Amino acid sequence: MSPARTESAASSKKIRGSAGPIAAADESHGRGTVQAPGRGKRNGKGNGAQLEFGAIAERPDKRPDKRSARQAEAKPSKAPAPVAETLELMPSEPEPAKEAARGKRKSGRRLDAVAMATKQREISISEFFSKNRHLLGFDNPQKALLTTVREAVDNALDACEEAGILPRLDITIFEVNEDRYIVSVEDNGPGIVKAQLPKIFGKLLYGSKFHRLKQSRGQQGIGISAASMYGQLTTGRPVRITSKIGTGHESHRVELQIDTAKNQPVVVSDSVVTGDAHWDTVESGTLVEIELAASFKGGHHGVESYLRQTALANPHAEIHYLAPRKQPLHFPRVVAELPPEPNEIKPHPHGVEIGLLMRMLKEVRGRNMRQFLVQSFSRVSDKTAVAILERAQIAPSTSTAEVFREQQVEALYRAIQGTKLMAPPSSCLAPIGAESIQRAMLALVVASEQGGDGLDGEAVDQIVEQAEVDPEVGGMDTGGLFVTAVTRPPSVYRGNPFAVEVGIAYGKGLPADQLARVFRFANRVPLLYQASACSMTKSVLQTAWRNYDIQQSRGALPMAPLVIMLHIASAWVPYTSESKEAIAHYPEILKELKLALQEVGRRLAIHVRRRRRAADEEKKQRYIQKYIDPIGEALQEILKLSDKQVATTVETLRDVLEKSRKL
Ligand SMILES: Nc1ncnc2c1ncn2[C@@H]1O[C@H](COP(=O)(O)OP(=O)(O)OP(=O)(O)O)[C@@H](O)[C@H]1O
Ligand SMILES: [Mg+2]
Repeated sequence: MSPARTESAASSKKIRGSAGPIAAADESHGRGTVQAPGRGKRNGKGNGAQLEFGAIAERPDKRPDKRSARQAEAKPSKAPAPVAETLELMPSEPEPAKEAARGKRKSGRRLDAVAMATKQREISISEFFSKNRHLLGFDNPQKALLTTVREAVDNALDACEEAGILPRLDITIFEVNEDRYIVSVEDNGPGIVKAQLPKIFGKLLYGSKFHRLKQSRGQQGIGISAASMYGQLTTGRPVRITSKIGTGHESHRVELQIDTAKNQPVVVSDSVVTGDAHWDTVESGTLVEIELAASFKGGHHGVESYLRQTALANPHAEIHYLAPRKQPLHFPRVVAELPPEPNEIKPHPHGVEIGLLMRMLKEVRGRNMRQFLVQSFSRVSDKTAVAILERAQIAPSTSTAEVFREQQVEALYRAIQGTKLMAPPSSCLAPIGAESIQRAMLALVVASEQGGDGLDGEAVDQIVEQAEVDPEVGGMDTGGLFVTAVTRPPSVYRGNPFAVEVGIAYGKGLPADQLARVFRFANRVPLLYQASACSMTKSVLQTAWRNYDIQQSRGALPMAPLVIMLHIASAWVPYTSESKEAIAHYPEILKELKLALQEVGRRLAIHVRRRRRAADEEKKQRYIQKYIDPIGEALQEILKLSDKQVATTVETLRDVLEKSRKL
């Protein structure tokens, strides 16, 4: 038997023997640790979302009933099978000594090419990422929880927006025990066709967004299946999805695992949901439930913080959140319209590298070069195509196959790069918009000052109505809190359109003696980790805040009662890794961010100087009022003035003082 086969046999044995979902469940039953099986039986005590440990695979027909669980009795959670046991799902490494012995030895060599060949085999993408889970944002239990919530929430919001549905999200974290949780995310989106469920949730690199150029939160086709895989690797449990695609359709519930060796889904159970009051009444939507090893903590990197920021960047979404031992949170919808739908665009010729150009030429069939250029790229008219081809010395009627065969691709590539073209269309972008950013920041800062979660649209309307809008500066002041925001015109990096937005809130309700808080967003998704590796943070650090009368130590964030929100909207966000946590340092992006920061900085400076002047004036006026009458009395006594003379003198003095303080 080849080493490869021996190894996969060994690993599959481990799956069956100790860590399969059903085996793990049976084992815990055997130890008598489970009170009542069935995922979703929650402990409702103290608003918490604690849950009794149970095997989902045993009761595929029962979903956690969040609504009834909220009233359920508290029961202590029991320990599940140790996580270390379940980690054995990963294929074990071959033993180096034995492997080496199998190879033919030559003098001075440990292995020859033939022996090495026996070890060389394809690596499945799932195997790769199960070993390199940190690349996907699963490098510690706290982050794993957040990443799982984020992947499901991103998908839910994307799906709702694509379907033209105002999103309503229900996010619940059930505690199984202190290092195991179930993340449940339900949306009111368009639902998912049953046949697609296995591939979406049980196969890495499968999705609808990778091959298109259009702004969306997801882009790689790896997010939710990676979260499912992490759950499976750390708990042995399958992911569970319930989905309905419209009124009159059945709701389907599927439980899935990933065969990591093959990167293929394995359906554990598949049923139609009947007699369920909730699923019978919803129009459409998807519920994703993933059990995983995790740690639940608050703080700036916690789920709550992530959801607050999600509400800030998605004022059109309504979000409900329930977590263990926490009050339920509700982030109301602040604006009632969906963002404008971004269009899908074709690649811009300047963003296409030579390798991709070769592939495109090879794949396209039955077109001549002129048609190829016009139809495959944006911003290439008939005239431009002819100009490019002339420069490359290729006849417009030449077939694409011929150009590929004759190795004229490099000449074509150079001709494209050397031709001036219009920037790509920005219709693929949907920035948040300066007004929405201002409203959202108001909602957040004012609400947190009032000790609330967020404000609804009406409450924000009221604040905005009372606010002093300053069209000259471009911002508004609500009782000492100044907010302003800038949306830069679209720009391009590597042929990809992007637009940068920056908003600030300054003043009342924010701590004056602390460093400014920076919120980073990409395509409306909050970025909570790797701040120091992100070009957004760099742009704030590199802005000279002292120019705007804001304190700043060298190389540090500004020190002021200040919140800064940065957003990049792009058809392809250049993340520094697959975990989508930080934005790469493209000079074009950095430049745009700095320009936006300078603009809000300038506005802030005008506002602050005006306010300072107004405060000085007020102080002077108070002095005048306080001292003018006693001065009159003193003058009367010294100069023996009549009452009338005193009144005239005081009036003249007041006039002079008022004029000199230049009201
Ligand atoms: N809640 C949902 N409702 C409808 N469709 C969904 C939902 N979740 C996922 N999908 C579909 O499944 C696909 C795969 O999702 P997945 O999160 O793995 O990748 P992605 O969102 O395309 O990219 P990324 O890896 O960057 O998240 C999506 O492209 C989308 O078509
Ligand atoms: Mg996704």
